[in-house]
Amino acid sequence: TEYQTILTDQKNRVGIITLNRPEALNALNLQVMREVIEAAQAFDRDPEIGCIVITGSAKAFAAGADIKEMQPNTYMDVYLQDWFSAWDRLAEVRTPTVAAVSGYALGGGCELAMICDVLLAGDNAKFGQPEIKLGVIPGIGGSQRLTRAVGKAKAMELCLTGRMMDAEEAERAGLVSRIVPAADLLDEAMSVADTIAGMSLPIAMMAKEAVNRAFETTLAEGVRFERRVFHAIFATADQKEGMAAFVEKRKPSFQHR
Ligand code: HXC
Repeated sequence: TEYQTILTDQKNRVGIITLNRPEALNALNLQVMREVIEAAQAFDRDPEIGCIVITGSAKAFAAGADIKEMQPNTYMDVYLQDWFSAWDRLAEVRTPTVAAVSGYALGGGCELAMICDVLLAGDNAKFGQPEIKLGVIPGIGGSQRLTRAVGKAKAMELCLTGRMMDAEEAERAGLVSRIVPAADLLDEAMSVADTIAGMSLPIAMMAKEAVNRAFETTLAEGVRFERRVFHAIFATADQKEGMAAFVEKRKPSFQHR
């Protein structure tokens, strides 16, 4: 497929999506949204892909939804087109996703990073939900995912003041899993993605689904869900292989079945 606003690549079992609209700091217009989703869905359909990395440029992961594109729209425009609902398709991707954030991840950029499963930050990363400064609020899940990630006090402050938080603060708050030197960010993200892609894909999908269930349900229901998935895994070839390999003191060779 020919994309205009993103680059895609594949290294071993890792699919890479690089936002590539440098003239607008990777602002997420409708075309970027469509292309990111289409590329992610294509990787998701490909059984040779075990992890997807989403990244931007050194200066900006993404500086938000495209303000110039949003500006002229009316309520009826955005309602009838159900703006930003398509991003739910990215959240539905079953293959694990890793966001590698260098520079600005603001507004929709922060929200895109939070849709991903693992969030790695370069030490130059800046996160924020500055929508309020434009007279709007987060529209791609920011008020919900940020609050679940960092708690009410910090989410409320960030959404009400629009201030940015640096990588250190984001890590302390639990928004990112790790900070790495900006120069090593992509290598480190690829290494994490390679590790994930080396696991059994269906088991990784089940682990992702189980962790995500924690955000959707009560503790008791979530634990019951996990237990049923755990039981079901004993019907997979990869569980047999993983445990046999441990007992035989060798590396497992997963068939992704
Ligand atoms: C459209 C954008 C943009 C955006 C930057 N650009 N962010 N265009 N939408 N979100 C464009 C600028 O207009 C400029 O284009 C070029 O990118 C470079 O940006 P500069 O501002 O010149 O760069 P700099 O001075 O380094 O400042 C970087 C920045 C600033 C601090 C990130 O660009 C900024 O504040 N951007 C907006 C951040 C923001 O408010 N994001 C939230 C968007 S709302 P030209 O043509 O002038 O060179 C959102 C809501 C989601 O995401 C859903 C709810 C509605």
